[in-house]
Formats: sequence, structure tokens, C-alpha cells
Amino acid sequence: MAPTALICDTQPWKDLKAHVGDIKKTHLRELMADTERCKQMLLEFDGITLDYSRQQATVDTLKKLQKLAEAAHLKDKIERMFSGEHINSTENRSVLHVALRAPRDAVVKCDGKNVVPDVWKVLDQIKDFSDKVRNGSWVGATGKPLTDVISVGIGGSFLGPLFVHTALQTDPEASKQAKGRQLRFLANVDPIDVARNIAGLNPETTLVVVVSKTFTTAETMLNARTLRTWISKELGPSAVAKHMVAVSTNLMLVEKFGIDPKNAFAFWDWVGGRYSVCSAVGVVPLSLQYGFSVVEKFLSGAWSIDKHFSSAPFEKNLPVLLGLLSVWNVSFLGYPARAILPYSQALEKFAPHIQQVSMESNGKGVSIDGVPLPLETGEIDFGEPGTNGQHSFYQLIHQGRVIPCDFIGVIKSQQPVYLEEEIVNNHDELMSNFFAQPDALAYGKTHEQLLKENVPDHLIPHKTFTGNRPSLSLLLSSLGAYKIGQLLAIYEHRVAVQGFIWGINSFDQWGVELGKSLATQVRKQLHASRAKKEPVQGFNPSTTTLLNKYLKESSD
Ligand code: F6P
Repeated sequence: MAPTALICDTQPWKDLKAHVGDIKKTHLRELMADTERCKQMLLEFDGITLDYSRQQATVDTLKKLQKLAEAAHLKDKIERMFSGEHINSTENRSVLHVALRAPRDAVVKCDGKNVVPDVWKVLDQIKDFSDKVRNGSWVGATGKPLTDVISVGIGGSFLGPLFVHTALQTDPEASKQAKGRQLRFLANVDPIDVARNIAGLNPETTLVVVVSKTFTTAETMLNARTLRTWISKELGPSAVAKHMVAVSTNLMLVEKFGIDPKNAFAFWDWVGGRYSVCSAVGVVPLSLQYGFSVVEKFLSGAWSIDKHFSSAPFEKNLPVLLGLLSVWNVSFLGYPARAILPYSQALEKFAPHIQQVSMESNGKGVSIDGVPLPLETGEIDFGEPGTNGQHSFYQLIHQGRVIPCDFIGVIKSQQPVYLEEEIVNNHDELMSNFFAQPDALAYGKTHEQLLKENVPDHLIPHKTFTGNRPSLSLLLSSLGAYKIGQLLAIYEHRVAVQGFIWGINSFDQWGVELGKSLATQVRKQLHASRAKKEPVQGFNPSTTTLLNKYLKESSD
């Protein structure tokens, strides 16, 4: 196939470049004064309100972005994703995480075959297994119920499930189902993480779920072996069959590890690691903790966005609009970072998950055809829940660098309001900040305002805020399993939109491989040098010095 033209060579790209000058001349204060514009930049879908009026964009900018979407063949690319084409061309794979949340009667095809029945076969298997563990008909080797679960996995086999678990923990419906149960996550190969995970746990009541798409990831396999030893030392080697199960696409390696493939939950190579939370990767640990019916609601929330993404016109399409605006911020306005700021403690692990989804997907140096890109892709994602972030890095956002912010708020809190007698209750207090911060960023504070407030002259420069700092607000009606699924899918598809526009492959991750292979060389040398009690050789002077210092002082 002939290489596709680079997006930066198209006319709509050039038009947007030329348009930047007009936008930079206009302050957000002026843009926000236009009531009609503000109305047009508000979108509601199924309990989610998006307000993007505080973006440095006009209605004309949006039209130009739509033209860019046409030039990038965005519609066609979305259709190709949903129809199971091998759009992950460097790995020759389909990208079908949407099939993971499809209802039983839906049809999603991969290589001509409807994969939905396979998805549901595994979901039914998970329901059956998690019901048995939860109702005590599957017990540990000593006959005790398995109330505690450690999910062992890293990257996409960890961050998504951790985000959803953290978000469900305080949801009244989900937490009722989790009574008396614990779910922990072991990801880091650092022995401290193992120690923290097993602290206070009794192997007799613990079930370990080893989660790895490849079943070769060094950190996960070492952690899995460590927990296998912990179980067999305490309960005998035969206990492993009752206390360890697996989630993987590689059932052969699962068996080789010593886990009965009957106790393994499969998924498929058309599910990318960072897009796998809706597969057995997330569904097994989350169903064990909250029961399958809660997880089913999470899946249907994600599916509602999948349908919306694949069918809504672009000007009313949440992930498309968010993706286009991010491209505008990164590639045209030149803002390389994005802050994800949920005003909900339950979403505290959302930004770390999106960091992987976004940065592993879109941090690429070449086009999908392998042509070096003359433009930068991806953005630096980071974030903390409000109001904690306000007392940490907001100073920089208000007065230092311009960082487009996503403010995420919830209308009905998961938790009751404690101090009703206060003038403003706890949730209102939180949400007052959610509403105030975007305006503070957009409007700033002028010299004249400070003069009126009698601020001493010498402090005026320090207290002046230029404003004109873009943000968008996502207001969710509530935060139950369904909404959490919706939020996840919005961000997954937004990242795909950005990648489709930039013309890159958002579904491979070759960049991660380099570090992995270097670590393998170091590991081999460390083993050899420790065994022979000899210094390491063959690295550059800096690495050699540090490795030898480490070897010497760690064996002292
Ligand atoms: O970080 C690289 C990566 O390949 C991710 O894409 C993936 O989610 C993670 O490693 C874990 O891989 P696995 O599930 O195969 O253990």
C-alpha cells in the first residue's frame, strides 16, 4: 500500500497553523463573553456534560478541526478499528477492545469471525468462578474461604484494574458487595512491593491472580514465582492449584508455570495491554471483589460510549471533540502537557492509568508507515485529584507554564455529606473548587483589579495572573460502575482519535522494548559477576562504575 501523506502536509493543517495567530490575539475573557459561543461549546450525552468553552478556540477553529479530521480520514479509521481490520500494522493485529464490552447479541468481527460469543464464554467462566469464590464453594487448600486477592501484573495488566478498583471502593452499591473482602495489586518487582502486599495476609485465605498478556514479563513472572513460593512454603506445593489462577493470552506458558489451564482466563491478541481492563485482566480481580453484576455495569458504560463514538456526528461526539481539541493544543498552540484533574478522590488512580493509555499509545517518532515525523505527537499527561493538586502544582499552572487542564467533577457524590450544619457541605466545598479553578485559569487577575483591591505596588507583579489558560470541564451525573466505564472509554477513544489524526500507530509500544533488552544484559552480568566474585565488564565507564559500586556494597 502506498504510504499515506503526512497530515502536516495537508491544506487543513496549514489553515490551522495560519489560524493560530488569530486565536493568540484573542483572550479567553473575550471568548467567554460570547454567550452563543459558550452555548455551542456545551455537549451532553447520557449523564455526561462536556463544557469546552474555555478552550482557546472559536466556532471557526472547530470547523477547521473538522476539516482536519476529514483530511486524516478519521471516519474511515474509526470504522476500520470497529470492523476488526489489522490497524495495528507493526504487530499485524486488530484493535478490538470494544468487543470486550459488547452485549451478547452484538456482532463484532475479527478476521471474518464474530468474537462476541468468545468474549461471553470467558465472561461466563469468570462469573461462575468468582461466584464460587465469593459464596465459599471454591475454598483454599485448608478449607478456608478465599477472602483476599492479590492481582499480580504490571502496566496495562495493573493500572486499569487499579483505577477501576479505587473508583468502585467507595461506591455504595459496589462496596456493599465487597464486604469482608480485600483486593491488592502487586506490580513492582521491588521486593518492598511484595512485602507490602503480603503484610497481614494469611496464605490460607489468599487467592493470587497472575495477570500477564504475554506471561513473559520479567517483573510479573518474578513476583508470581515469589508468591508461589510463599504459598507452597506455608501450605505445601499442592496448594498452588487452589490458590493461584491466571489471566493471559498465552495458556501454554500458564500451564508451564504450574497453573492448571482450567483455572486460566483467556483473552486475545487483538486486545492491547493498556486497553485490556475490560478483558479478564480487569474482570477477574474486580468480579472477585465486587461480584460480576457490578462489573457488568462497568462494561455496559464503556459500551455506551463505544456506540456513541462509532455513530455520533463528529461535532457531537465526545471522544472526537476531545481528541481534536488535544491535537489543537499540542500541535498548533504548542502546549506539550495535559493535566487530568478529577475533583473526586475515587478517581485518584485515573491519571496514572491514562498516562499509560495516552503516553504509551501516542508517544511515537514515526508515522504508521515508518516515516520520521516532522511533528511531535503525544502529550505529557499527569494529574492528581482536586483539591490536593491545588496545594501542589497549581501555582505553575496558574502563573508558570500553560498546561491545558481536564477538570472532572461529579454531581452526586458517592459518599454522604458529613457536616450538614456547615454553610457549605463537604461535597459543595470540593465542587466550589471544581467550578472556580477553570475561571481562575481563563480570566486570571489584572493589574487594575489588584489596584482596586489596594494591593501594595511591590506585590502587584507577583499577584498578577495573565489568565488565558485553557481547560475543559467534564461533569458526571454520578460515579457508579456505569459512569466509570463511560469515563474510561471516552479517554481510550480520545487517545485513538489523536493518533488517527497524527497518522501514527497508537497500538504498538516498541519504545518499551529497548529498556527491557538492556535490563536483560545487566541482569546477566550481575548474576555472572556475583557468582564469580568478579567486577562487571563491557559497559560504558559510567554504568561500569555504578554497577561495581552496587555489587560491592550490596554484598558487604
Ligand atoms: O509496558 C509495556 C507492556 O508491554 C505494556 O504494554 C503491557 O501492558 C505491560 O508491558 C505488561 O505486559 P504483560 O501483560 O504481557 O505482562
